[in-house]
Amino acid sequence: MEKNFKRTLVTTALPYANGPVHIGHLAGVYVPADIYTRYLRLKGEDVVMIGGSDEHGVPITLKAKAEGITPQDVVDRYHNIIKKSFEDFGISFDIYSRTSSEIHSKTASDFFRKLYDKGEFIEKTTLQYYDEEAKQFLADRYITGTCPHCKNERAYGDQCEACGTSLNATDLINPKSAISGSEPVLKETRHWYLPLDKWEPFLRQWILEEHKEWRPNVYGQCKSWLDMGLQPRAVSRDLDWGVPVPVEGAEGKVLYVWFDAPIGYISNTKELLPDTWELYWKDKDTKLVHFIGKDNIVFHCIVFPAMLKAEGSYILPENVPSNEFLNLEGDKISTSRNWAVWLHEYLADFPGKQDVLRYVLTANAPETKDNDFTWKDFQARNNNELVAILGNFINRALVLTHKYFEGKVPACRELTEYDEETLKEFTGVKAEMENYLEHYRFRDALKEAMNLARIGNKYLADTEPWKLAKTDMARVGTILNLSLQISANLAIAFEPFLPFSAAKLRSLLGMNHCNWNILGSTDILPVGLQLKEPELLFEKIEDSAVEAQIQKLQETKKANEIKNHQTTPVKENVEFDDFLKLDIRVGKVLECQKVPKADKLLQFKIDDGLGGRTIVSGIAKHYTPEELIGKEVCFVANLAPRKLKGIESQGMILSAEDAGGKLIVIQPAADVTPGSEVK
Ligand code: 2FM
Ligand code: ZN
Repeated sequence: MEKNFKRTLVTTALPYANGPVHIGHLAGVYVPADIYTRYLRLKGEDVVMIGGSDEHGVPITLKAKAEGITPQDVVDRYHNIIKKSFEDFGISFDIYSRTSSEIHSKTASDFFRKLYDKGEFIEKTTLQYYDEEAKQFLADRYITGTCPHCKNERAYGDQCEACGTSLNATDLINPKSAISGSEPVLKETRHWYLPLDKWEPFLRQWILEEHKEWRPNVYGQCKSWLDMGLQPRAVSRDLDWGVPVPVEGAEGKVLYVWFDAPIGYISNTKELLPDTWELYWKDKDTKLVHFIGKDNIVFHCIVFPAMLKAEGSYILPENVPSNEFLNLEGDKISTSRNWAVWLHEYLADFPGKQDVLRYVLTANAPETKDNDFTWKDFQARNNNELVAILGNFINRALVLTHKYFEGKVPACRELTEYDEETLKEFTGVKAEMENYLEHYRFRDALKEAMNLARIGNKYLADTEPWKLAKTDMARVGTILNLSLQISANLAIAFEPFLPFSAAKLRSLLGMNHCNWNILGSTDILPVGLQLKEPELLFEKIEDSAVEAQIQKLQETKKANEIKNHQTTPVKENVEFDDFLKLDIRVGKVLECQKVPKADKLLQFKIDDGLGGRTIVSGIAKHYTPEELIGKEVCFVANLAPRKLKGIESQGMILSAEDAGGKLIVIQPAADVTPGSEVK
């Protein structure tokens, strides 16, 4: 049986403040959390939505080092950018705070201390890699070396990405610090560990038996962690950025970022509700829901609950509706490869179209499996759904009311059988949507809302009020009254999903209240109510706009290829005498043509100062014959002749291959007599 709660606490994963946010963040966490919260608010429920930036951790310290600024400078910059993006997209946090705040530091520190005093930690001294140049211990990720399994020379201390093996940093051959490049040394260090194994029986019961309703991806991941057996986890680190470990003799040690970040949810609630925060965290009538992405499941379903349980006075999450990942045009979104649609850039390119992105990301949300965002799908959903169905219906209802009734809501008189049928269909939408929303099925809920617009569109198309205007104005009035009531319903049904458009629609319809409980009613708009002049809610997105986005991504791909281009290792040394055996000369291109049926080959006639020769070269993809005729090139003059496509090639033209794979012929810096030797 489902439990009745008195209030809901919605938390959203705290994004790292080391870069701006992209569509993957929105789709995975913030849009679904916002839909859920807005829905509960519309129902008049007691709900609080908590967000904030995660400002600790090694990557932030490294970014600071690379830029020659302090970690605080880094997080100040990105906290503000992230916060603004969320505001711009209507993510309606009750608070968006940060983990570098004082209240957080105190809350996290007190939390640790309580567990410490209760004897909930184990202390252990282990050997860890230390960078003597950078004077810091190294997280596994910051040690690279050769993989003992596949000999990849760029394996990380926690994993080899070439063969996929999980590693310990001490497994690496020739370990190197990714920070200074020096060889790290093993050094003893003492840390505090949360014995997760102690909580395993409890977690098994609580998740595997009592929360079978969790999404299969979440439940499945928890099950596999539990089945592997839980181990104690270190909750402190040797670092000078973070919340200091509040224990004597722990100088230079801070709380592990994954220990302090979830406590950020508690500190931010405290900051928002200094007097009543405990009701939201400690009363069993509060429903706690964590919205996160799939890489955070273990921390929210296993580690944080074990921390809360060890503390003893907190409730545990009722659900953790984690999404899978959103890919972009077939590739994993990646900050380091700049393979993302950044929210601030999207808004610069599509001003005012926040709702379009919210719509597309929900309609295509990675709720049960990874999904792909493509610009073509973005355009199609905007043009074929938002414009052609939702926008079109509302616009027709408004325009016709202005045309025939001076913009005033006409009376609804006799209903036909068809009207009744339509009404029946649309009054069912509320219960359907509620069922989906309560179960975190936001895609399906959105589909239902869109169905309501489809019902309206079909109703207008079938009843054709414009044809009845000459003969039966009473009937036209009824049709438009019903259409306007459906429009008012749409303003409510879409509020959680498309808050900007819903607000605009409410304003066009003169609705001064918006309440989920009246969804399904047919008398929301009183007869005689004056409507505003119609305005379009959505507009078509042209091919050129999405092509520009695709082009931008292609450029990113190209830039990445160039960045990743590895200079080929220098070949084995040769003796000078061997070098002298090569006869390289300058020649002038007299003739040049494509070789038929060979798309890579060009055939040259070269003036080599010796009466001319033919050379066939594989550079047809990089040059047209016209570009080379009359130019001087360098060629190997004593290469044994060989046949290419039946033509004897008497030498080889020299080119350099650049990072993008383009071949560029080598030419003398000034005119030289054909046949001159290159020395
Ligand atoms: O994965 C991340 O981006 C983390 N910063 C999420 C932290 S969620 C919570 F615990 F604060
Ligand atoms: Zn490997």
